[in-house]
Amino acid sequence: MTTTLITFQLSVGRLRPWREGDEESLSHHASNRRIWNNVRDFFPYPYTPRDAHSWVRSNKSYQQPNNFAIEVDGQAVGNVGFTVKDDIYRYNAEIGYWLSEDYWGRGIMSEAVPIVTNYIFQNFQVNRLFACVLEGNVGSMRVLESAGYRHEAVHRKAAVKNNQYLDEHIFAMLRAEYLER
Ligand SMILES: CC(C)(COP(=O)(O)OP(=O)(O)OC[C@H]1O[C@@H](n2cnc3c(N)ncnc32)[C@H](O)[C@@H]1OP(=O)(O)O)[C@@H](O)C(=O)NCCC(=O)NCCS
Repeated sequence: MTTTLITFQLSVGRLRPWREGDEESLSHHASNRRIWNNVRDFFPYPYTPRDAHSWVRSNKSYQQPNNFAIEVDGQAVGNVGFTVKDDIYRYNAEIGYWLSEDYWGRGIMSEAVPIVTNYIFQNFQVNRLFACVLEGNVGSMRVLESAGYRHEAVHRKAAVKNNQYLDEHIFAMLRAEYLER
C-alpha cells in the first residue's frame, strides 16, 4: 500500500515526516550547545547517532505526524513538532522547534511555524497552542510574535539551565484567534 506523506513547501526547502536515512544529518546538526541551551534537557547533547536513530524510529511513518523534519538541500536540519497535553489540559498542545545553526537568521522558522500552527488547528482537536521560551531567546520570541501568538506570561525563574534559574515566557494562540486571522 502506498500512502501519500504530508509535506509542506518552504522557500528554501520543505517540511516532511522524519524517515530512515535522516539519522546522520540529524545527529550532525542537532548536536550543538547553542541549540541545547534553549531547549529542554531531554534534548540530547551531544546528540549521538544512537539518539538520532531512536528519534527517527519513534517518528517515522505517521500519517498525521506530530513532528516534521525541516529539509534543506536534501538534508534534515531541524524539527517543528507538538505534543497534545492530557487531563484538564487535553485541548492544549505545546509547539516546539529547533534549526541547525548553519541556517539561522534566514527566515526558515518564521515560515515553518505558521504552517505547522495551521496544520495543528486544521487536523487536531486543539483549542490552545502554546510555546515556552527561555529568557533571552529573542529569535524564538520573534518567530512566535510574527506567527500571531500572544505573549501571555512570564514564569519567573521557572526553568533551570546550565545551573542557572531562567524566566520562561509563555506564548499562546487560541483557536478563536487562529480563526480570526
Ligand atoms: C530560535 C530559532 C528556531 C529561530 O529560527 P530562525 O529560522 O533562525 O529564525 P528566523 O530567521 O525566522 O528569524 C525570526 C526573527 O528573529 C530574529 N532573530 C533570529 N535570531 C535572532 C537572534 N539570535 N537575536 C535576535 N534576533 C534574532 C530575526 O531577525 C527575525 O526577526 P524579524 O521577524 O523581525 O525579521 C533558531 O535560532 C534555533 O533553532 N535556536 C535554537 C533552538 C531554539 O531556540 N528553539 C526554540 C525553543 S523555544
